[in-house]
Amino acid sequence: MTTTSETKKLNTDIYEIRRIKASDYEDVTKTLTVLTTVGVVTKEKFHKLLNYWDSVKLPDRPDERMFNPLVIVNKKTGKVVATGMLLIEPKIIHECGFVGHIEDIAVASSEQGKNLGYHLIRSLVETGKRSGCYKIILDCDAKNIGFYEKSDFSKAGIEMQIRF
Ligand SMILES: CC(C)(COP(=O)(O)OP(=O)(O)OC[C@H]1O[C@@H](n2cnc3c(N)ncnc32)[C@H](O)[C@@H]1OP(=O)(O)O)[C@@H](O)C(=O)NCCC(=O)NCCS
Repeated sequence: MTTTSETKKLNTDIYEIRRIKASDYEDVTKTLTVLTTVGVVTKEKFHKLLNYWDSVKLPDRPDERMFNPLVIVNKKTGKVVATGMLLIEPKIIHECGFVGHIEDIAVASSEQGKNLGYHLIRSLVETGKRSGCYKIILDCDAKNIGFYEKSDFSKAGIEMQIRF
């Protein structure tokens, strides 16, 4: 009999989860369009942003980064099929504790429903735990609550915003 943990196992013959890199430019900008408008992002801007993300380390944790953008790659096609970010915020409260923020989760339409979103969230959460976050939070549409609940998140608070 197949158990839930077996069905949820990432097929590593096909998929790889890794940090984003410069050559992902086209795939990542395309993948993000399932989430929102990406607009004009030149390759140069993309590379500059990645260099910035790579350069910022956590206070007292020189091996851990503040910006943790991950991708899932389909190894058969070489294409990025999912992307997501864990931003780690060093705070004053909780003895200068770290809070993780999950942002910009997107799975390419053709690859949705294959548990890739689940594995992406799991990897981001593991990164946050390893880096010492005491909690990880995110905002989402009501239609995606069930997805995040399947990844052990629970409803907390109310999102508010001011847009410019
Ligand atoms: C939402 C999204 C990230 C889900 O990724 P996915 O790879 O298709 O989801 P998974 O296959 O990993 O789903 C994991 C589990 O959550 C469930 N699930 C997925 N989307 C769901 C949803 N919107 N509502 C309720 N449950 C959902 C799946 O059925 C699966 O359940 P199971 O374990 O019982 O089989 C993806 O559909 C997506 O990129 N959507 C467009 C962009 C977006 O909305 N991003 C999130 C911004 S907050």
